[in-house]
Amino acid sequence: MLEVRNIRKEFPGTVALDDVSMAFEAGKVCALLGKNGAGKSTLVKILSGAQRATSGTLLLEGREAAFHSTRDAFRAGIATVYQELSLVPGLSVAENVLLGRMPRKGWLIDWKAARERVGKLFGEMGIGIDPAVRVGDLGVAQQQVVEIAKAMSFQPRVLMLDEPTSALAGAETEMLFRVVRRLAATGVAVIYITHRLQELSRVADTVTVLRDGKCVGSLPVVGTSAEAIVNLIFGSVVQRSRPAGLEPGGETLMEVRGLCSRGGYRKVSFELKEGEVLGIAGMLGSGRTELLRGIFGADPVDAGTVTIGGRAAGRGTVRARKRAGLALIPENRKEQALVLPLSIRQNGCLASLGKVGALGMITVAREGAVAKHFVQRLEIKAGDVGAAVGSLSGGNQQKVVVGKWLNTEPRVMLFDEPTRGIDLQAKQHIFRIIWELSREGIGSVFVSSELEELLEVCHRILIMRGGEIVGEVRPEDVTVEQLAVRCMAAENGTMAGAA
Ligand SMILES: Nc1ncnc2c1ncn2[C@@H]1O[C@H](COP(=O)(O)OP(=O)(O)OP(=O)(O)O)[C@@H](O)[C@H]1O
Ligand SMILES: [Mg+2]
Repeated sequence: MLEVRNIRKEFPGTVALDDVSMAFEAGKVCALLGKNGAGKSTLVKILSGAQRATSGTLLLEGREAAFHSTRDAFRAGIATVYQELSLVPGLSVAENVLLGRMPRKGWLIDWKAARERVGKLFGEMGIGIDPAVRVGDLGVAQQQVVEIAKAMSFQPRVLMLDEPTSALAGAETEMLFRVVRRLAATGVAVIYITHRLQELSRVADTVTVLRDGKCVGSLPVVGTSAEAIVNLIFGSVVQRSRPAGLEPGGETLMEVRGLCSRGGYRKVSFELKEGEVLGIAGMLGSGRTELLRGIFGADPVDAGTVTIGGRAAGRGTVRARKRAGLALIPENRKEQALVLPLSIRQNGCLASLGKVGALGMITVAREGAVAKHFVQRLEIKAGDVGAAVGSLSGGNQQKVVVGKWLNTEPRVMLFDEPTRGIDLQAKQHIFRIIWELSREGIGSVFVSSELEELLEVCHRILIMRGGEIVGEVRPEDVTVEQLAVRCMAAENGTMAGAA
């Protein structure tokens, strides 16, 4: 269906793709793998007309094709869901899905027809989102679902999904797989990028691995071990588990009492001990993100208190909470955590200007020193610290967000899906950093949709459902399946979850 030959893509100072040749078959799902910065998104952008290759050819059904814009590619039947969300927040779901293709009645837009068309599409895909709501009012995961639906609405011949599940939890992911498999069965060629290797056997037929811009192998999924794939991606990785002697201290570091927010969560109370890593498990829409934002003072709360080290953690504003020692790694890096045109150096220091400034002045040298330190510590792949954050690969951008908050020397770190879009090795780095922090007595609250991850990294896990903490488990006492069941309980299995 689609083939690339000898594709090369150069950016100033970087070769993102180097003589890449591969083919994608109709009716097959091909997983495209590779560590952060390997060149996956760049390949997708070239295939979708968003970027031009420096050299090389592209063949669609055997015929040479040249896409000068994403429109060209769309017309040729290639639809793409990008890693970074591309919806217009101020418009409704229906308008976003049908952007530029709204049905008309004479001169006027036929709103009723638009909503019906989108409603029907959602019905077929099992999506429970109202087409009339504003996209800006949806959570990241639901926006992701809308993106996917939008791509599907073109009835493409080739569908490319760049990390579609990174924002989704269990049931939503399952739903997506069903839709993808159904599409493949109708003859669509699907290219699927993911860092979650455990997904492969459920969704993909073949895997193709990129390493440093080169294609290093293509294999069928059946009969290939996870180890073999990991070796292709990284060379080799050491998988570490939580160090044995790492126990939380006896002192209470943070206490959350009766925190409430209408529409978000109710009567949330818990304690975080010194050096404790506390997980929060829950489905999409269970209120995890809202809770972290409430604790951090990013959104107002209706009742309840947060104390740190026995003292009230200031008024519920970000400034006061930050001063009390809180840091939040938010789930949506592009909108809530980074200024894309600014450099890695500047972004990395944004939360700790007091530290890099002297007498009210910020010096590039001091910023540079701080930035170099965390680029090394987190092994961020970048030419130099002066490069714009927007030019980094998705996973490397995420690492900058983590680095930025580590610079503030917090007492409690709140992590909302910190490993979204991050490869296995980088994930291990972040875990190691969390454990290092723990050894220094710093506590962490860790929200993740990947339950395996919670079991791996946390001392204790709270279960959140419908805005309430409904239980607590220790990782050594449960399996992933048991934890998943407790998170879901009575919730339905639609893609939009309980929202
Ligand atoms: N617009 C750009 N300007 C400069 N360099 C870029 C640009 N886009 C990508 N790169 C570089 O090209 C390389 C490949 O990036 P790409 O986004 O394709 O990686 P990826 O495999 O998708 O990684 P991830 O898993 O982190 O999303 C990286 O080194 C990145 O910094
Ligand atoms: Mg990418």
